[in-house]
Amino acid sequence: MKIIGFNASPRKSGNTAWAISQILESAAETGAEIQIFHSGELTISPCKGCLGCAKSGDGCVVADDMREIYAALKQADALVLGSPLYMAQMSGQAKVFTDRLFAQITPRFSPRFKEENAGKKLILVFTQGNPDQSKFQAYYDYTKNMFRLLEFDVRDMIIVTGTRGGQASDNADLRFALRESGQKLASRASD
Ligand SMILES: Cc1cc2nc3c(=O)[nH]c(=O)nc-3n(C[C@H](O)[C@H](O)[C@H](O)COP(=O)(O)O)c2cc1C
Repeated sequence: MKIIGFNASPRKSGNTAWAISQILESAAETGAEIQIFHSGELTISPCKGCLGCAKSGDGCVVADDMREIYAALKQADALVLGSPLYMAQMSGQAKVFTDRLFAQITPRFSPRFKEENAGKKLILVFTQGNPDQSKFQAYYDYTKNMFRLLEFDVRDMIIVTGTRGGQASDNADLRFALRESGQKLASRASD
């Protein structure tokens, strides 16, 4: 099983990166092949809406670092998408990444829908500074449903709260939950 992670925080060593790495490392210990991409190290432009992907029939026509992710995603069984909460939503980097997936993963409501591209397993991870998850729960629920609408098989959504008050990595219960999620994902390869 191959799992790729995308860190939509510009901080390579921040809380989001740590949370994703816990999931991936535990999946690797369970036998998965893993790869992580950090948005802060990559140049990924917003979708141009040119529909070049539809016309070329060969994926996105924009030549940037998303090309490497498209190639990895094609081989992958699962994606771990982690984002900090910015202004009560996913980061701009996460939104740009999601839009660019359109070249490969089109929803059922699109005329370009291809069944074989659907059903990629997904774990969503959000980190937020505020200690109260309920303030943003409506957005988290919406986002989970949105990824389902985009044909992802959403396996888990983990919200890391209160990062303002310290490093998420200090929280042993959270570490356990993240590792358990990674292990479950990797051990259910054929589900
Ligand atoms: C531009 C910006 C906007 C933010 N907006 C929110 C917010 O709406 N709610 C919240 O709880 N935390 C907010 N935060 C805090 C981050 O979500 C939090 O620090 C997160 O854990 C950062 O992830 P990182 O350590 O991976 O970079 C914001 C931080 C920044 C930089």
